[in-house]
Amino acid sequence: MSDGQVTSQTLLESLMKEERRFAPPAEFRANAWVNDATPYEEAARDFESFWASHAENELHWFKPWDTVLDASNPPFFKWFSGGETNICYNCVDRHTQSWRRTKAAIVWEGEPGDSVTLTYQDLHREVQKFANVLKGLGVKKGDRVSIYMGMVPELPIAMLACARIGAPHSIVFGGFSADSLRDRINDAQAKVLITQDAAWRRGKPGPLKPIADQAVSQTPSIEKVVVLRRAGDAFPVEMTPQRDYWWHELMATADRDCPCEHLDAEHPLYILYTSGTTGKPKGILHTTAGYNLGTHMTTKWVFDLKEDDYYWCTADIGWVTGHSYIVYGPLSNGATTVMYEGTPDYPDKDRFWAIIEKYRINVCYTSPTAIRTFMKWGTEYPARRDLSSLRLLGTVGEPINPEAWMWYHENIGHEKCPIVDTWWQTETGMILITPLPGYVTTKPGTATIPFPGVVADIIDENGEPVAANTGGYLILRKPWPAMLRTFWGDDQRYVATYWSRFPGVYFTGDGARRDEDGYYWVTGRVDDVVNVSGHRLSNIEIESTLVAHPAVAEAATIGRNDAIKGQAISAFVVLKAGNAPTEALKKDLRDWVAQKISPIARPDDIYFSADLPKTRSAKIMRRLLRDIAEGRILGDTTTLTDPGVVQEIKQRYITEGREEG
Ligand code: WTA
Repeated sequence: MSDGQVTSQTLLESLMKEERRFAPPAEFRANAWVNDATPYEEAARDFESFWASHAENELHWFKPWDTVLDASNPPFFKWFSGGETNICYNCVDRHTQSWRRTKAAIVWEGEPGDSVTLTYQDLHREVQKFANVLKGLGVKKGDRVSIYMGMVPELPIAMLACARIGAPHSIVFGGFSADSLRDRINDAQAKVLITQDAAWRRGKPGPLKPIADQAVSQTPSIEKVVVLRRAGDAFPVEMTPQRDYWWHELMATADRDCPCEHLDAEHPLYILYTSGTTGKPKGILHTTAGYNLGTHMTTKWVFDLKEDDYYWCTADIGWVTGHSYIVYGPLSNGATTVMYEGTPDYPDKDRFWAIIEKYRINVCYTSPTAIRTFMKWGTEYPARRDLSSLRLLGTVGEPINPEAWMWYHENIGHEKCPIVDTWWQTETGMILITPLPGYVTTKPGTATIPFPGVVADIIDENGEPVAANTGGYLILRKPWPAMLRTFWGDDQRYVATYWSRFPGVYFTGDGARRDEDGYYWVTGRVDDVVNVSGHRLSNIEIESTLVAHPAVAEAATIGRNDAIKGQAISAFVVLKAGNAPTEALKKDLRDWVAQKISPIARPDDIYFSADLPKTRSAKIMRRLLRDIAEGRILGDTTTLTDPGVVQEIKQRYITEGREEG
């Protein structure tokens, strides 16, 4: 933790001693959507009827379903088979048929200080027009549309327009490199790319269109590119005739009416790429109805959304959190969802609190990394602003350490707001382990219990459930509506990744323990995925990128403890003969990874090593490398370039019985 020396084992032990309890405040409880065990009991009694009753009451259907859960071909589960709906209809159209027509749907705050409010009627108009733009560019039901944008209101408009016509979108986070964008477009075989000139970041335009151009020069499937003008004169861009079109020009002449396609419940909604345990990012496929239901119910109950709330999720829509909890979940509920374009430290380190003050935000959902950064900056920033409108706080993305939880509780929630620590994944689509804030007593550091209808467990190597307070693998025993359906174009890998290690159950890749109250303490990944500032990265992908550098023979990366980012990346690099282990080369290698994958993948430290410690079966001993990077062995790591040193450590470790299996 603070000294970076604590192993996850001792971290876990200190977490387990947590004795603070926070029961829902009485007034909060009295007004909450859920304030007793009823939904848990209903779901436990009849899991399918539980989901079906909410699907019926909370969503619009063009045609009712025949089967709630079709489990005839596991693990290829289908939800609401035979039903027809459209998530865009549920998020937009239906709200224009009531008084909500004039309600703010999206409240957007630009980094330079400009702002836009779109009512549901505005959103309806813009989405229909853009859906017609897409049709005009040749996009048909089933065609994929890639999106590479910053946090602008046109991004949810584009997503909803795709959903409306049944064209799965594939959003690529604006911080990814041209190579990463190219690979994702090629995997999805997208027909159209939507991008923007540049995105505002700390007062400067961060280029998007030039990166998109680089990518598109190697993506034969892309026929047309739509470019939003955001930075304008501050960032002139080149347009390729016959291929590139300005958003505003296409919209100026677009027809305003575009009815929603009646889509099969299992029609693909989107593909979102995430890092796995191998080098190649996986295209997680989410489909229509189950995803809509899962994000709708969790948004309503976990954030206890009220009609007049201003709800703000600080994530980027390039990640799943933004998909589910900025766009689809809140809009399906007819909520007002706030979106912010820029960074938390521009123009000053109180920007988040200024936004809460400005819009009188009621519910705020952010990440532990952001909270730890705010802790580092100091309490004077939140203290400057009026945060009294807040009634509920949330976190997601990584385990939250109790100190950060308490800091959030005291300095942002002023000790009156419940905190929902929500565990879920890109794959799960929806929050799965979380307190319901009007019912569940929280403890700092635990995501508490599974959402009603979610059946989780913790098992050992042999698939046996473990006793209380014993570590094991977090798994899910039953399908849930918003679950991923497969990897785009790779059913086999989907089965191998999630459903093979323990037959019949979904393997999350996370380790966890359950305490004596049945609360889940998620401790982090047990696979080769690193979680840096809540961003998922793959060791193998970074290693392969390093090895692609002309000076590198071999590389191994690990995630080491980091007080702010949760984990930081240490890379151990063996150079090819003739290359000197210089500081300049270290910098070059760090920049290389940033350029090839993304700045978020840039290794924090590089160790030149004469050799990599491997097990007898040639597996890299990551645990040993982690010990080195966290300073538990070898004070002076420069000696790693001496071949004897690695041999010696390795010998010592193997004889001490710490060889990894
Ligand atoms: C981690 C983000 C502990 C976990 C929605 C998971 C968490 C991975 C929590 C998924 C939490 C997410 N407590 N760990 N509340 N939330 N994680 O796909 O390791 O970007 O497997 O989805 O983040 O990351 P992803």
